[in-house]
Order: sequence, then structure tokens, then C-alpha cells
Amino acid sequence: MYDLAAIGAWIEFAVRWLHVITGIAWIGSSFYFIALDLGLHRDRNLASGADGEEWQVHGGGFYHIQKYLVAPENMPDGLIWHKWQSYWTWISGFILLVLVYYLGAEFYLLDPAVADLAAWQGIGLSLASLAFGWLVYNTLCRVFVDADQTVLMLALFGVLVMMSYFYSSVFSGRAAMLHLGAFTATIMSANVFMIIIPNQKIVVADLIAGRTPDARYGKIAKQRSTHNNYLTLPVIFLMLSNHYPLAFATEYTWIIASLVFLMGVSIRHYFNSMHARQGHPHWTWAVTVLLFIGIMWLSTAPMFRADAQETAQGAALRFAEAPGFEEVHDIVLGRCSMCHAEEPVWEGLLWAPKGVRLETEHQIAGQARAIYLQSGASHAMPPANLSYMEEAERDQIVRWYHAATGR
Ligand code: HEC
Repeated sequence: MYDLAAIGAWIEFAVRWLHVITGIAWIGSSFYFIALDLGLHRDRNLASGADGEEWQVHGGGFYHIQKYLVAPENMPDGLIWHKWQSYWTWISGFILLVLVYYLGAEFYLLDPAVADLAAWQGIGLSLASLAFGWLVYNTLCRVFVDADQTVLMLALFGVLVMMSYFYSSVFSGRAAMLHLGAFTATIMSANVFMIIIPNQKIVVADLIAGRTPDARYGKIAKQRSTHNNYLTLPVIFLMLSNHYPLAFATEYTWIIASLVFLMGVSIRHYFNSMHARQGHPHWTWAVTVLLFIGIMWLSTAPMFRADAQETAQGAALRFAEAPGFEEVHDIVLGRCSMCHAEEPVWEGLLWAPKGVRLETEHQIAGQARAIYLQSGASHAMPPANLSYMEEAERDQIVRWYHAATGR
């Protein structure tokens, strides 16, 4: 008989696969069009009515791309719209959110040490926050449409920092980062679905009818697509971050998440300038690296010690012989082994999560670094502290690890 839990795991994998594929398709086409548009040559002998052109070579052929702001005399059949990449990225992302974080709220969404919420409350907050994000964002954009766009960007950054703080005070660290990503990505998809595509339809209809479209539509589309452009890279970082406890499971998660947005802007600024043939602002890389170092520092601030390289065998032996190993062994058996066993006794788990087994002395000594990172240096494990690990026990793990590594 095939197991329900195994089917669930495969469905989750399939949806994640779809999500990554559609995300690549969306971001790929978006980056392509941004670079194309910024790089258009407007000073050449253009075909009549054209606004700009570009030559490209790819896959054994030359492409001569021309941009028109007016409708061609005969609207071509099969005009291609780029929208389903964006819609499907959001849809598959939302399904994944439900599968992982709503159905697994106890493991992933909630952390009683952060906020004492029932699953339905956490899920309610999650849904409400995504809708709220779009309402606030859309209102700000409308109010500021004629204002200095930099002021608007700063205001939006303020909203993101506030949300980052909010999410880390209601959800587990990994859910907080992921939600900030979902919050941002919802805004991006809604920009396409609610603003950019509907406005584009009006403009196309006007052009076909021979009317001059209201210039305002162009202005709004530009505003929204500029935001999407700058938000892309941070969203990817936030989506990946929940595989890295150093990013999501420390005290400074919300500051780290905020800094990620600045890195995204500095990287995009470099490429936007380059594609528009406005030079190579190399300073943006210095800014990005400084921000990244700041993030690294924040994430390790409480420990700030790296390991020496050594063979796993030798290391395991040293960890097994280090003072405090017996206590750590007992702690792990008491707080981790119910899940991290060949046959977990925790309800709903069919195998050791991520293949991490912590039952024998040998296994525990061999996973010293992972144990330290997951449950000493950070609070990533046990998830949501389900097995009620105490601070004193975490301290013991840290002391043992430091004793063994001599730092
Ligand atoms: C309630 C069950 C449960 C308990 C208790 C638990 N874990 Fe986990 N652990 C999990 C799950 C679920 C995952 C998989 C997380 C994921 O998918 O990223 C995991 C993943 C891990 C990983 C792999 C992390 C990675 O991403 O590579 C390590 C290491 C780990 N746990 C160590 C521990 C330690 C040490 C303890 C005890 C202090 C512990 N766990 C307690 C459920 C548990």
C-alpha cells in the first residue's frame, strides 16, 4: 500500500518544481524585456513609426527587434502577452504555502516562543497580511503617482521593514522570512494582474480604435514595473533563505530581511545602468558586498567563530571525547531523537527528517556541527521547540561544541 504521507511529499515536490519553473520563466522574461527596453537604440534610421530598435544574435539566428508605441496598421494575429508566467508563479507559490506552512503550521509556521497562536490564527494572519500588503502598496502608489518616485520607494521600504518586524514577531523565523517574500511577490503578481495587463488592454484597444491613449497609463505601468524590477532579487533570496538557519533562525532575522532589499536594489542598479549604456557603476558591488558582510556578521553575532577544516572521522572522535558529551548525548536523546530516528515516534513522521538520524553516540558526535548550528547557535531545531528544549540545554551544547573546537 502506498503511503498517504509519501503521496503528500511527492505532491509538494511537484508543486515546488512547478513553482521554480514558472518563477524562472517569469523572471527570465522580465529581465529580458527590461534589458531590451533600456538598450533600445532610438538614434538610428528607424522604420517609420518605430520608437527604437535592437539587433540580437541567439541560437543561430539574428533578431531585429523593433518597438512601436503606436499600433501597427493591422494588428497581428496571435499577439503574444506575457502574463501567465507571473500568474502561475503566484498560484503555485500559494499552493506551496498552503502545503508546507498551513498544513504543517505546527512545524513551520508557528513558534510558541515567538507568539502563542493556534494554527487557524497563524493562517488567518498570513492570509490577511498578504491582502493588506496589496491594499497598502496600491494606495501608496496611487497617492504618489505624480510625486518624486524616490520618495515613494523609501516609503515602500519603510513598509517592508515594518512587515519584516511584524512577521518575526508572530511567526517562526523561517516562516517570517518566507512571508516577507510572499508579501512582496504578491504585490509583484498583483501589479501584473490588476494594473499592468488591464491597462495594457485599454491602451491596445485605444490604439486599434485610432485614439491616442492617455499618457497616464504609460506612467503607471512604468512605476509598477520599476518596482517589480527592484523587488525580484530580494524575493528570491527570501524564498531560498528558509534552507539556511543562519539567515532565519537568529535574533536579527528581521534586520537581515530588510537589508536584503537594499542588496537587491544595488545589484539591479548596476545592470539597469549597464543595459541603458550609462556606464558601469562598480560602486554598487561594493555596497552589495558590504551589505552582505553586514548580514553575515549579524547572523553569527552571538558566535562569530568558524570551524577549522578537518576530517569527519577525526572531528567526530574529538567531539565524542570533549567534556560535556555525555550531557549533550542525553539532551539529544531527550529532545531530538523522537523525530530524528530511523523510525520516528513523532506522529506524522515516517522517516528521519532530512535523513538526519540522532540516535547513537556515533551519529551524534558525527553531526556535532549541525546540532550546534541548529539548536545551539540558533533556535532552528527543534522546530517551534516542539520538544520543549530549555535554554540551559542549548548553552550546554554551545559549551561542548566550543570545548571540542578549542574556541
Ligand atoms: C518534532 C520533530 C523534530 C524534533 C524534535 C527535532 N527535529 Fe530536527 N528536523 C525536523 C524536521 C521536520 C526537519 C526538516 C526541516 C526542513 O525540511 O528543512 C529537521 C531538520 C533537522 C536538521 C537538518 C537541517 C537542514 O536543513 O539540513 C538537523 C541537523 C536537525 N533537524 C537537528 C535537530 C536537533 C539537533 C534536534 C534536537 C535539539 C532536532 N533536530 C529536533 C524535525 C524535528
